[in-house]
Amino acid sequence: MRVLAIETSCDETGVAVYDGAAGRLLAHAVHSQVALHAEYGGVVPELASRDHVRKTLPLVTEVMRRAGVESGGIQGVAYTAGPGLVGALLVGAAVARSLAWAWGVPAVAVHHMEGHLLAPMLEPEPPAFPFVALLVSGGHTQLVHVEGVGRYRMLGESVDDAAGEAFDKTAKLLGLPYPGGPALARLAEQGDPRRFRFPRPMTDRPGLDFSFSGLKTFALTTLRQSIPDPDAADAAQTRADIARAFEDAVVDTLLIKCRRAVEATGARTIVMAGGVSANRRLRERIDGAMADLGCRAAYPRLELCTDNGAMIAYAGYQRLRAGQHEPLGFGVRARWPMENLPAC
Ligand code: KG4
Ligand code: ZN
Repeated sequence: MRVLAIETSCDETGVAVYDGAAGRLLAHAVHSQVALHAEYGGVVPELASRDHVRKTLPLVTEVMRRAGVESGGIQGVAYTAGPGLVGALLVGAAVARSLAWAWGVPAVAVHHMEGHLLAPMLEPEPPAFPFVALLVSGGHTQLVHVEGVGRYRMLGESVDDAAGEAFDKTAKLLGLPYPGGPALARLAEQGDPRRFRFPRPMTDRPGLDFSFSGLKTFALTTLRQSIPDPDAADAAQTRADIARAFEDAVVDTLLIKCRRAVEATGARTIVMAGGVSANRRLRERIDGAMADLGCRAAYPRLELCTDNGAMIAYAGYQRLRAGQHEPLGFGVRARWPMENLPAC
């Protein structure tokens, strides 16, 4: 079964073709809207929807050409149905549902975070179930116990900002361009890790929930106290030192909770996915901590950490193979708890 997938939950148009029989991705491509939203300092939902309208079909044509597949060679279509921006989701869902109807094949709605969670399955040595997944994206920070596709138990999540959101907001305070996460990580490379120490929120009590909104406030206070004159010669270094202290605090906090989750569940593998899992320092620290515990850490390749169609194609294939698909019609959801998904 070859599955065409469309992802349009936020500001990237992602399309992919996955071949289930061969167990491999035939082609995938992402069109990023970063340049479109940059001047606004964040994603403008209406602009995102309109750009998906322009880009989705040409990207489908391009990816199918690269995959060497004609319309008759697709046996199912998967689309991201949520969580995400409703207008943006509707574009991908409408295109996917229409193509499936025209081609006479089933269409399946995929949960965006399930896509992220299963992205490491596209790697040469996929992790084995059960595992603990740390999902760290712009909209979510979750620790999930995963026993199989659709068998998810939420262990903990952020009570306020997601990790990626905290990166983006703090980057903005530091005067960095959108999208802030990667820019902040780059600035942190020049920072002195000993200059400032930020708190590790909610690590002083039991439990696996997170809270990241206080770190952004801490960064703002530190910035105001340390740079009374923004034009001072040492202002650039101070910004880098704050970036480093912020990144260390987020990474440490995630690490402490991951270690706890592995100990609490007895899992031998931890999977990390979502945009923030592209963070180099986070990967290094998780690798080290898991090696100490005799556990394996698995990640998607860097290009599959952030939003893409490949992860939706893989998740969609698993669900179509289990006989799941949608009736003729479609809906999308801004919010959608992952624990309510059917098991495969
Ligand atoms: O998964 P994703 O592409 O989109 C959502 O589903 O939200 O994640 C995007 C988030 C953004 O907040 C972005 O700043 C963050 O991932 N991000 C990073 C890095 N690369 C992307 N955060 C920290 N370090 C990075 N290297
Ligand atoms: Zn995402």
